[in-house]
Amino acid sequence: MTLNHPALIEDPADSEGFPIPEPLSGHGPARVIAMCNQKGGVGKTTTTINLGAALAEYGRRVLIVDFDPQGAASAGLGINAHELDETIYTHLMAAEPDVRPIIHHTGTEGLDIVPANIDLSAAEVQLVNEVAREQALMRVLYPVMDEYDVIIIDCQPSLGLLTVNALTAAHGVLIPLEAEFFALRGVALLVETIEKVRNRLNPKLKVDGIVATMVDMRTLHAREVIERVEEAFGDRLFDTKITRTVKFPDASVATEPITSYAPKHPGAQLYRRLARELIARGAAA
Ligand SMILES: Nc1ncnc2c1ncn2[C@@H]1O[C@H](COP(=O)(O)OP(=O)(O)O)[C@@H](O)[C@H]1O
Ligand SMILES: [Mg+2]
Repeated sequence: MTLNHPALIEDPADSEGFPIPEPLSGHGPARVIAMCNQKGGVGKTTTTINLGAALAEYGRRVLIVDFDPQGAASAGLGINAHELDETIYTHLMAAEPDVRPIIHHTGTEGLDIVPANIDLSAAEVQLVNEVAREQALMRVLYPVMDEYDVIIIDCQPSLGLLTVNALTAAHGVLIPLEAEFFALRGVALLVETIEKVRNRLNPKLKVDGIVATMVDMRTLHAREVIERVEEAFGDRLFDTKITRTVKFPDASVATEPITSYAPKHPGAQLYRRLARELIARGAAA
């Protein structure tokens, strides 16, 4: 897909006007983003897939790392990970780790994925006895750091050792937050974990921001929640808010990003806008 594809023309209603990003002249080094929230069902996987696809449409080379034993990112991009012998798990504890043999291309040009399946659930326990157990994922990704512009790690809903591995490998953290009343409760604990990892393992780690998901601005409730998130996090809350629409679950059933499943749908436009905002903020190339 070229940059002047009709679906990529900026939404005329986009007053904020995050510019269409310039094409890149080369690729890499990758900026690694961990998609984290220990709460399930907040839009981590949906944001990983659709932000990844939107960045790929803008000519970025994107690698998604499925780092959840549920394998939802793999499934959502059409990979039947349960039938695979080689996944992120098999390479996590290898003597000479290398992610390259387990990279799969997807139907979206420029978007690749490293799949996961239920085997990964054993890693949490097995890694505990490894030397440099927090750096296992970082070592796996090292060989492709110069080949991608963005690597997005789709974390599992926990703050355990796998998530600590993701935070150790990352430059930035994106926190999807479902726009509902108790959503803020867990974020303090997540921020505490991020700070621990920054102090002990990964001084360069930063919080890139919070993405409000499943927003229905027509309800007073959602507007109040957004206001409280703004109070708590200021401009760390992305201006782009992802609205609630059944097109997202529809797209995952169709095993496609929304950007190709329903390219003109507002949900697709919102993830493109989020991609532009991410680039405008300097959180992606
Ligand atoms: N903006 C949205 N509107 C409606 N449904 C959504 C939206 N984002 C995600 N979903 C749906 O909500 C469920 C949980 O989302 P998911 O991305 O899998 O969350 P997580 O990875 O945090 O567990 C999925 O069925 C997904 O299709
Ligand atoms: Mg998920």
